[in-house]
Order: sequence, then structure tokens, then C-alpha cells
Amino acid sequence: MVVLDRATGFTALANGVAIADGSASEEIIALRDNVIRVRIVPNGTLPENASWAVLPDALRSHVNVKPESSTTSFGFRTAALDIEIDKSTLQLTVRDLSGKIVQQDALPARFEGTSFRVFKSMPLDEHYFGLGDKTGPLDRREEAFSLWNTDAYRFEESTDPIYKSIPFFMIYQAGIASGIFLDNTWRTSFDFGKEIPGIYSFGAVNGPLNYYILYGPSPKQVVETYAWLTGRPPLPPMWSFGYQQSRYTYTPQARVLEVAQRLRDDHIPADAIYLDIGFQEKNRPFTVDTKAFPDFSGMIAKLKAQNFHVVAITDLHIAKLSDQNYFPYDSGMAGDHFVKNPDGSVYTGVVWPGPSVFPDFTQQQTRAWWGTLYGNFHKLGIEGFWNDMNEPSIFKTPTHTMPLDVVHRIDESGFTQRTATHAEIHNVYGMENSRATFEGLRTLDPNLRPFVLTRATYPGGQRYAATWTGDNSSSWNHLRMTTFMLKNLGLSGFAFSGADVGGFAGTPSADLLTKWLEIAAFQPIDRDHTEAGTGDQEPWVGGPAQEAIRRRFIEERYRLMPFLYTLAEEASRTGLPMIRPLFFEYPNAAPDRHPIDIDNPASGEFLLGHDLLIAPSPYPDQTDSYTIEFPSADWYDYWTGEKVRNPGPPDPGPSPALPASAQVQLSIPVVPTLANLPVFVRAGSILPIAPLVESTNQIPQGPLSLRVYAGDDCNGSVYQDDGRTYAYKDGAYLRINFTCQIASDGFHLRAGPQEGTYPPWWKEIRIEIYGWTPSANTASLNGKPIQSTASPIDHGFAITIPARSESFDLQLR
Ligand code: GLC
Repeated sequence: MVVLDRATGFTALANGVAIADGSASEEIIALRDNVIRVRIVPNGTLPENASWAVLPDALRSHVNVKPESSTTSFGFRTAALDIEIDKSTLQLTVRDLSGKIVQQDALPARFEGTSFRVFKSMPLDEHYFGLGDKTGPLDRREEAFSLWNTDAYRFEESTDPIYKSIPFFMIYQAGIASGIFLDNTWRTSFDFGKEIPGIYSFGAVNGPLNYYILYGPSPKQVVETYAWLTGRPPLPPMWSFGYQQSRYTYTPQARVLEVAQRLRDDHIPADAIYLDIGFQEKNRPFTVDTKAFPDFSGMIAKLKAQNFHVVAITDLHIAKLSDQNYFPYDSGMAGDHFVKNPDGSVYTGVVWPGPSVFPDFTQQQTRAWWGTLYGNFHKLGIEGFWNDMNEPSIFKTPTHTMPLDVVHRIDESGFTQRTATHAEIHNVYGMENSRATFEGLRTLDPNLRPFVLTRATYPGGQRYAATWTGDNSSSWNHLRMTTFMLKNLGLSGFAFSGADVGGFAGTPSADLLTKWLEIAAFQPIDRDHTEAGTGDQEPWVGGPAQEAIRRRFIEERYRLMPFLYTLAEEASRTGLPMIRPLFFEYPNAAPDRHPIDIDNPASGEFLLGHDLLIAPSPYPDQTDSYTIEFPSADWYDYWTGEKVRNPGPPDPGPSPALPASAQVQLSIPVVPTLANLPVFVRAGSILPIAPLVESTNQIPQGPLSLRVYAGDDCNGSVYQDDGRTYAYKDGAYLRINFTCQIASDGFHLRAGPQEGTYPPWWKEIRIEIYGWTPSANTASLNGKPIQSTASPIDHGFAITIPARSESFDLQLR
């Protein structure tokens, strides 16, 4: 065992420090003032400076630092951080410029054989988030995880590992956030005080000790910095935020059309319909079962005419079929695109099609070849593609995946051309699969935004695909777990995520499906999906009363589409997630600044963007009343527009279960009902809302509504574009920023000038104001009196004005 604790030399670098320790070397450098990279090798020199995750520009970036040394320590200072290495123990301490410790080594890094481990001190009030889709509580404290992409059919709350490996976590202490990203593609592990109390640690079985420290201090800054390092998600087509209908597996063709027709007949807004493996000939990717789908192209055209977007599964395993005119196999063999056994033969594993071979997505030319396989489907008008089983999942083996010695041949810019074992590539295989799909679709039509959905991924995978949480179950507990999983995925760079709505394994009760559809209406990806052999799970199942509730929530999602799409655009520009934990926006919610999401009463709650609070019960099946904890003082009921008030006397007081330190400013008791989901709006929000449509292809008829909720820091915006192409990058978008203010001369809604050249669909803007009452009932626009005045609506007033592209100031008295 090598333990790094005897430094033999320190060298100040322009951007950091290099340390020698016998035969070991360590380098700590600043990429930016708030991004520090740590690399240690037990023997010899640092390995190649290449990454599947970190963007090339970020990898090369550096800032100059100010070296610092004393008799006992060595280090440097950036404009944000102070880095100190103890000369005798090599203990690394990271402080902010006020001297507060952000992170500190607890023990020296340890190397044993090919593996390594890093140990950090774990203050009692520190909390840990991220690590992708890992199950269990939102807070990773007292938990331990293995990162190894795994097909985890019917995973449970304690199942580990599961589908994705995102070795990035956020550290959060009393409102101050930082992050650690261990960029190592081998099997890694993370332990948050489970093994050694008071110490969290991370390590890998092999590969480089190479990690990044990201400093906030706000949680938002950490996520934005992580996006700077590993990439932002590209803006998906708008239709992917519509309601998506799926099942394993709609077949034959008539059934697909029947489901689509029923959605339209029942006026359930919907945008996507999925073709799972059953549409293929004997489950062979890139084929069509022409017996079950006798007029496949006619079906796609018909669905398109009904404003549906078709998403087809294209698993990565290619059926091993020589001399059978199976183009993916023949062309893949001819191009030498499949991974090999150590003896040079092509590796074969059994998956859905039977014996299959596996593309080597670590080779650029293989990814390019894979992309061409989409040509026919693309021509037929299939608009979305689903990359499943890409952990990769292999049947009939005890490990459920490839042998670790299967050989990949890395051919990728930044990397030395070399072979690598599957043990090194496994965790990036799914991401490179989704990358090949995304880049292939971009090549087929450079102007169309792809929609790719992947199950397995690694940091950086957000650049190529949205993701879902895999094979969950139709249980109330899974509905509860979904909130934690999507919050943590969002903190891990995946802004566009969803879970199988209604649950994959099993058949949900009608009530469970209803509640799930209600909550999912406020989540980034809203896809109802279920396993083969389960009961029907479409929104009408269970009778008209249930269907009416479900329709109402899906309709609300469509009304909120301008808000959702504005958030999606923000995510693509900043990396900020759509679904957010409460502490992300409200680090000061509790007096001791702990993250209130971890308190039982608030654990079911989540934010959609900055302004919407969705507050199901922490146990969504419970019928007893529960307490909604608000992260700040002023909120409105989304459904009624009424201001939320602390219940009057007799005041039940703070929930006795909460310690004094956890008391939040506003809380209300609610009795849960099947038909209702409590949703609230931050006072000071301006929400853009559209008239109802049944597909995002339809142009809303009527005004854009701006729901203005009077309060401090009052602002909002609306973003629009054509929803499908990259024309927005050349200016064909529309953005308007709004603010509101209550002043001595009345209420003002101010709009900035329209940015971009995209013409709005609305001719008028209807402004609904909650929380303010006119006294004189006069209105003026840019200082000139106008005829129309505000008329009362429930809990507010509304006024409609013509849309205009110049800025305006609407004043009401
Ligand atoms: C996997 C996927 C699931 C899909 C099934 C058949 O289990 O996770 O969503 O329906 O394979 O393709």
C-alpha cells in the first residue's frame, strides 16, 4: 500500500502546485478561480490528459494563481479559493477567502494495487447530493454507493448499483455549496460516513486519481460550473415536453393507431407515441416486423398527420446474423465496428434478438457508422430515438454485462489511440452510444434538433440525450422515490429527466396512476410507460372519473408549456435543472440554513424552475392530513390565485416533529385528495401561460396570459422559437423579460423589448394580477391612458392589451 504523506518537493506552477512524494507525484491546479483539479499518481508521471466528460476547452483552461508558502504548508490562492497543502501530511485544505473550510482531507490518499481512495472530513451539518439516479434518500449522508452501469430491472430503494454512473456530488453546509467530480470511468465508489464515521471517501478500482473541486458558494453556481466543465444539455424539440405515451410494446400497427386515436378522441393532449422492441422483426434493431406493421411508413405518416411524434427504440446490440442481408451486422462487420474478445474474435452476447454483437462506440468511425443506420427511419419521419440496454445489458451471464476483458479500441480526439478493456470503458459505453445517435441524427439533418432518450450514461452524457430512471415499479413507494431521483439527476447535470409514469413493472391501481400523472405533469419528461404483460396504463384506464382528473393535469401541463419551454431553454443555456430541490433556490429557508428538503414534511416537495412549488404528500398514498412547508414567506395557490396564509388561531404551531432549527416561515396543513395536487407560486413570479392545445404542433389560439403574482423581486420571462430547428441560434427566437412593481403611483408591469426575430403566436397579452387591488381603476400604457381597465377575476384582476415588440410599461391604479 502506498500512502501519500511524505513530500519531497514542492514546485509552484503558474496555475497551481506540483508535489513530489518519493516516486509519487501530485498536481493541484486551478482551471478557473472556482475550479481546482487534483491529480495524484503513486508512481511515475501523470497519465494522458484526456476525458470523455470534460469539454476540451475546460480541460485546457487555466488561471494564474498566487503562490503561498509557510514553514508548514504550501499552496496558492485564486480569486475565490485558498488552497493549502500541509507539508508533513500532504493534507489538502480548501478554504473560501473568508477562511471558511470548504473541503479538507481527513487522511492521506491511499493506493493499493491498482485502486485508490481519497478521504475527506465530514462535518456534522454537511449534506451530499447528486450521484445521478442513485436511489435512497435525497441526502447521500450515511449512504454508500458503487458506480457501475447496471440493468437494474425492478430496482428497489436500496438497489445499488443501477443504470447510470455520475461520479459527481454536491457538498452543502449551511447554505454554502461546493462539488467534487471524480473523472474516472472505472468502477468507482463513494461512501458518506458509512464506513468511517466523520469521513467521506471516494475511489476507484483502477485508472487515474483525478478529481475536480467546484466551488459555489451557491448550489446554483456549483451546477452551472459543473455544466461549464462537462457541458450543457442541448435544447430538445418542444414536442418532447408534451405528454408521451409508451408501453412495452404497442403492436400490431392497428394498436398503435388505436391508442393514438383514443388520445385524440378523448381530448387528452399528447405529443409522442413510442415504438418499443415489438415493432422490430424478431427484436432486431433497425428492422420492422412487416407482418405486424404491414404499412409502417403509412402508419408513421398517419400519426404525423394527427400531430404525433414517433419515438422508436434502437437498442445498441446488433443481431449476429451472417449472410441474412441484415445491414447493421454486415456493414458493421465489414467496417470492423464490433468489440472483440482478447483473442481477436468478435465478442458475442445474448440480448433481445438472441446472439448479438456490440459496436465499439469509443471509435469515432464506429459512431459515424452507427449514425448512418438511422437514415431510413429518419426518412420515414421518425423524430425521436430511444437508446436502451446500453449499460450494456447482456442476458445469461452472472454479471449481466460484458466480460471485463472485452477489448475496445479508443480512437477519439484527445486520447492516445490505444486499446482499453471493457472494465475501463463500461461506464462510458452508454453515453458514447447516445452520442453516436445524437451526432448521427445531426449529420442526417443538421438543422433538426434530435430527441434521444438514454438509460445508461456518464458525466457529459447530458450533451446528447435526455434520460429516464429505468425499470421502476407500479408502487406508491416508487412514485415517492421518483422525486428524489429526479432532483438528484438535475443536480448531476441532467436537466431533462423522467420516470416511467405509472411504473414499469406491475399494474398500478387507478388511484396510483392518477396521482402519478398529476405529479409527472410538473416534471421535465412526462412519459407513461409499462412492461410487457401488465394491464393497460393509458390515461383512460380505470374509468371516466379517473380519466377526467388525469386529463385536467395533462391539460395544465400544456397550458404551462410556455413556462416549461422557457425553463428548458434556460437549462440549455446554463445547465440549471428544470426540477429543483427547495434548497437550490432557498438556501436560507431554515434558520440554521440546512436544506429543508431533507425534513420529512418537505421531502415530497419539489420546485419546477424558480417559481413553482409542487407539494404532494411525502407519502403520496396517505389519506391523513400533512403539512406543507414553504421555503419562504410569500406564496400563492397556483390553482386559485389566493395568497397562502398561515392558518389563523388556533395556530397548530410548527410540526412537533421538527426541531426548532428546522422551523420554516410558512406552513399549512392539507388533507390530500385524489383529484387535487397542491401547487404554489412564489410571490413575485410572472408565469407565461398559453391557451390549451392538444399537441405542441398546434398554434395556441388567443392571448398569451401572464399571471403576475405580486411580491418582491417580481420577474419572469417567456422564450419561444420554432420548437424544432436550430434557427434560434441565428436569431429566430423570441424572449421577453418582464418585471412588476407596486409603487405609490399604482401597479406596473414592465416588459423589455422583444429579443430575437421569431414572431409570437399571440396578438394580445392578457395580464392577470394576483395580490393587488386597483383603487381608481384606470390604466395607462407608456404613460398614455388606455380605454380598457382591469376587470375582477377570482382573487385578482385581468386586463388584455395588444401585443407589441417594443418595451412597455403598463400602469394600473
Ligand atoms: C428495458 C427498458 C424498458 C423497455 C424494455 C423493452 O427493460 O428499460 O423501458 O420497455 O427494455 O425494450
